[in-house]
Amino acid sequence: MSDTAVQTPDSALAQPAKHKPLVFSGVQPTGNLHLGNYLGAIRNWVPMQEEMPCIFCVVDMHAITASFEPDLADKTREIAAAYIASGIDPERSIVFAQSRVPAHAELAWIFNCIARIGWLDRMTQFKEKAGKNKERSSAGLYVYPVLMAADILAYKATHVPVGEDQKQHLELARDIAQKFNNDLNEPGWFPQPEPMILGPTPRVMSLRDGKAKMSKSEPSDLSRINLKDSNDEIATKIRKARTDPEPIGGSMAEIDARPEASNLIGIYAALAGTEKEKVLAQFDGAQFSGFKNELAELLVSTIGPIRDRMDHMLKDKAEIDRILSRGAERADAIAAPILAETKRIVGFL
Ligand code: TYM
Repeated sequence: MSDTAVQTPDSALAQPAKHKPLVFSGVQPTGNLHLGNYLGAIRNWVPMQEEMPCIFCVVDMHAITASFEPDLADKTREIAAAYIASGIDPERSIVFAQSRVPAHAELAWIFNCIARIGWLDRMTQFKEKAGKNKERSSAGLYVYPVLMAADILAYKATHVPVGEDQKQHLELARDIAQKFNNDLNEPGWFPQPEPMILGPTPRVMSLRDGKAKMSKSEPSDLSRINLKDSNDEIATKIRKARTDPEPIGGSMAEIDARPEASNLIGIYAALAGTEKEKVLAQFDGAQFSGFKNELAELLVSTIGPIRDRMDHMLKDKAEIDRILSRGAERADAIAAPILAETKRIVGFL
């Protein structure tokens, strides 16, 4: 992507020895958490806790890049509760809110001066989110991926589990890290963070349009399963999910050419912990009505307990705030010395 950030084999090779494995990821507290966030990201984080130290952030500073309501604190608590209800252990992993650790904003400024406008101009998510309204979008929305790079590199994180839509932002983070290291003549100071795009549903699609991503901002609530949906809502949304008139069947290539069918089969595979091929074989020749009943049951048995745990946790806001404060202290203890050294490398007094 970058013209100036040339990847040399020694800088790429320098990483494994120098940087300890560390996971960093985050979700914005904007609107409803949905099945895409869960299957594309949060669910994949849970087993990683067994393998590496993990930091899971609620990225509230990202949430103000587009229009927002003043109930950000409650939305932040909700995301933290969703992490924990999904199986993130806040004693083992660090769970905190981005705005509570100043290194994110400070490092983002330095990175704003490293990233090139040409790189940001290529970010497809900005184009999608700004739409025709580019002139009226916030400057924050434009430099949003730079803040994301700062989130990751403030901890020198090496592994970043995200859905497919974040891949381009991760590439930018790698370019920023590399250009910083090259320009400041500090090979290997920042690692090259690896995107981890996992499972059969790296991109969960809308239930109403198999060509559009499931998203918080889609006006029709029927397009997504929210983590807060009741069992009845889940069943209704799946029953109403768009499909084509053909029964399930055919080869993988054939099913992938039927976006709505492919999406539902992918969701089933992810929830059942199996592969799409196996689900396709299991339901070969079946009508969607029967398949949908089984899919709804699987969703209710997965999402239902998470929703109930979230509800329970959200009754005690003080406890969530305590967890987030403790998480921020632990995060700051890692990020502050990295930021201090980065500022020294830049040459600040
Ligand atoms: P956000 O809040 O839009 O989404 C959170 C996570 O959910 C994934 N995701 C999906 N995965 C599959 N199918 C979908 N339909 C779907 N929709 C969302 C996203 O890929 C993401 O992993 N910029 C990020 C948040 C962020 C971040 C970071 C992530 C800020 N700083 C540092 C990792 C590291 C975002 O807006 O995610």
